[in-house]
Amino acid sequence: MQTADLIWMNGEFVAWEDAKVHVLTHALHYGTGVFEGERCYDTERGPAIFRHDEHLERLERSAKLYYMDMPFSREQLREATHELIARNGFRSCYIRPLVYRGHGPMGLNPLENPVEAIIACWEWGAYLGEEGKKNGIRARVSSWRRISDDSLQPLSKASGQYLNSVLAKIEAQKSGYEEAILLDDNGHVCEGTGENIYVIRDGVIATPCVTNSILWGINRMSIIQIANDLGYEVVERDVARAELPLADEVFLSGTAAELTPMREVDDMPIGDGKPGPITRAIQEVFEDALHGRSERYAHWLDVVPIPAQT
Ligand SMILES: Cc1ncc(COP(=O)(O)O)c(C=O)c1O
Repeated sequence: MQTADLIWMNGEFVAWEDAKVHVLTHALHYGTGVFEGERCYDTERGPAIFRHDEHLERLERSAKLYYMDMPFSREQLREATHELIARNGFRSCYIRPLVYRGHGPMGLNPLENPVEAIIACWEWGAYLGEEGKKNGIRARVSSWRRISDDSLQPLSKASGQYLNSVLAKIEAQKSGYEEAILLDDNGHVCEGTGENIYVIRDGVIATPCVTNSILWGINRMSIIQIANDLGYEVVERDVARAELPLADEVFLSGTAAELTPMREVDDMPIGDGKPGPITRAIQEVFEDALHGRSERYAHWLDVVPIPAQT
């Protein structure tokens, strides 16, 4: 179980074991929350949060799509996150801000329920494993389709929507795979349960676009930038299911999984069954950017001020 000393709750720092909500919290019943997943890396300049501003901006956009007014400004959340990391004494950690409808009237119209906010952080290794990042993972195409904007808000990182990822993840793991790839409601490739996806053939990188029900990944933005800077062509377009096993290389990106290559899909090897050269080239630059070893992308890191010891 991951822990930390403190959690930030509605403007206060509280002990991990005291960070509690009422059982009639609206979000607990109806999934009415929005959240972020961010990572703080131990860099030479100090602990630093990767693309912090972009994550806080997406949190606001996610909230807007569910008619939630943010109870704290972006700057307040940014400062609270800094202080939380410093007070927990972390050099590197995963960060989870959550904005949710609290205890109030029960029923499906949540507009009278308070909007509350917490930020938690804990130490968390690579989501699909260090071995997966190095040698690639095995995935299957899920029998579950990714939620579509006919019924929900794929561009919102909303709590209730993750039941879709939960079902796909359970199915994949029960059948012996590390990850599930979901198709969109038109049968095009969409994404993993918590990652965007990239398919490489003949030197061109294709990735599903915003009209394929993806979550607009912050790392996706960074990967596209890095790939372009390395001189690769990146095309945002519909990707057919069969392009996965027929690709030279496939990889995934997300805050939790970072850049993880895929070596197999539906029991078919991708390329020669090992991470390929373009994946490796992008992964190397991306890892340098995350860990503060890249001058070019240094502006993507928000350094956490650590008060001097007295
Ligand atoms: C469903 C889903 N898709 C894609 C991503 C990748 O997004 P990001 O790169 O912002 O972490 C995530 C993770 O947040 C996710 O949960």
